[in-house]
Parts: sequence; structure tokens; C-alpha cells
Amino acid sequence: MASSKTFLSRITLASLLAFAATAATAADAQQGAEVSMPKDLEDHHFINAIAIDDPENLLHGFHHFYLNDTGMEAFREGGPYPVGTEFVGLVYEITRDGAMRNEGEGKAIALMEKVEGAEDTGGWRFALLGPDGSAMEIDPAKECFECHTQVRERDFVFSQPHHVGELGVTPK
Ligand code: HEC
Repeated sequence: MASSKTFLSRITLASLLAFAATAATAADAQQGAEVSMPKDLEDHHFINAIAIDDPENLLHGFHHFYLNDTGMEAFREGGPYPVGTEFVGLVYEITRDGAMRNEGEGKAIALMEKVEGAEDTGGWRFALLGPDGSAMEIDPAKECFECHTQVRERDFVFSQPHHVGELGVTPK
């Protein structure tokens, strides 16, 4: 079975090849956009998690993904998402203890918000905030959107509802 690291390397390469040409204009559109830390996760539902175990990767860590009420119906249908949809990824360091991997310190918050006027990045504003809420210096078009274009048909959203056996445990 392919490791997630192999998987991520492969999709990065594919997206770089396909979308390098659009990066500059998308970066321009993102500039000056205001991003802020969500106040709380009261209106959000846990939907998904991933661990990226390569310390060299910008997105190294455990990611816990949440989605707000506005996007839930579209999530069940595989998109498209209305303006006001907000995905929040809480990113933690990975600690190691024998076979166990656990969450360490909080290191970042990954945001994907559906906003008016972000056509060059699929209608989404991507941002990465530090633990103190300040926006990190990244190029969202190149370092976020390019990879997400692989799931253009699901409105650039990778996550899909998970079912656990017959429990069918999916966010309501
Ligand atoms: C190399 C590919 C890649 C890059 C680069 C990337 N992502 Fe993602 N992103 C993913 C994958 C794959 C998932 C789904 C993870 C899972 O299945 O648990 C995801 C999920 C997300 C989600 C939850 C919604 C969804 O699409 O499932 C958010 C929010 C998110 N990423 C934000 C970002 C931000 C912000 C950046 C840039 C700092 C970024 N991503 C860069 C691959 C990428």
C-alpha cells in the first residue's frame, strides 16, 4: 500500500505540472485579503483528519479538519459550496513514543473560506495562521491552491464524508 507521503509527493508533482501557469495571477488576487482566526468552533463539525509525517513538508503535522454549518449540505453532496463556507484545519506537531504518534504543540491553523472575488483560486481564500493568529508568509496560490485543483470537480475540497462500518458515523 502506498504511504501517504508517497501519495502527497505524487499529487504535488502532478499539480505543479498542470497549474504552474496560473500561479502568478492567483497570487495577485490573494494579496491584501484579510484573514482572521475563527473565534471558536461552535458552528463547526469535525469532518476529517490527516497526518503528514515528513518534517520537511510545510504542512507537517496532525491536521484535524472542521467545517461550519454553511458548508455542511454541500459537503454531503460533494459541492459546490456557498459563500460563507469555512473549513478550519487545526495543525499539531507530531510526537513519537514507540509505536505511538500523538498530537504535540499546536503549530498552525489552515483555512479555506469561500468568498466573493477569489475567482483565480476557485472562489476560495486559503491561509495559514500561526498559533498566535498571525498570517504566515506563504503563497496561497502555489502552496495551497495548486494541489487542491486535483479535486476541482468537488469544488477543490478533498475531504469526503467517512463511514465507519454499519454505524455510518458521518457529521450531521
Ligand atoms: C500536496 C497537496 C496539498 C497542499 C499543498 C495543500 N493541501 Fe490542503 N489538503 C490536501 C489533502 C489531500 C486534504 C485532505 C486531507 C484528508 O483527506 O484528510 C486537504 C485538506 C485541506 C482542508 C480541508 C478541506 C479539504 O479540502 O478537505 C483545508 C482547509 C486545507 N487543506 C487547507 C490548505 C491550505 C491552507 C494549504 C496551504 C497552506 C493547503 N491546504 C495545501 C492536500 C493539500
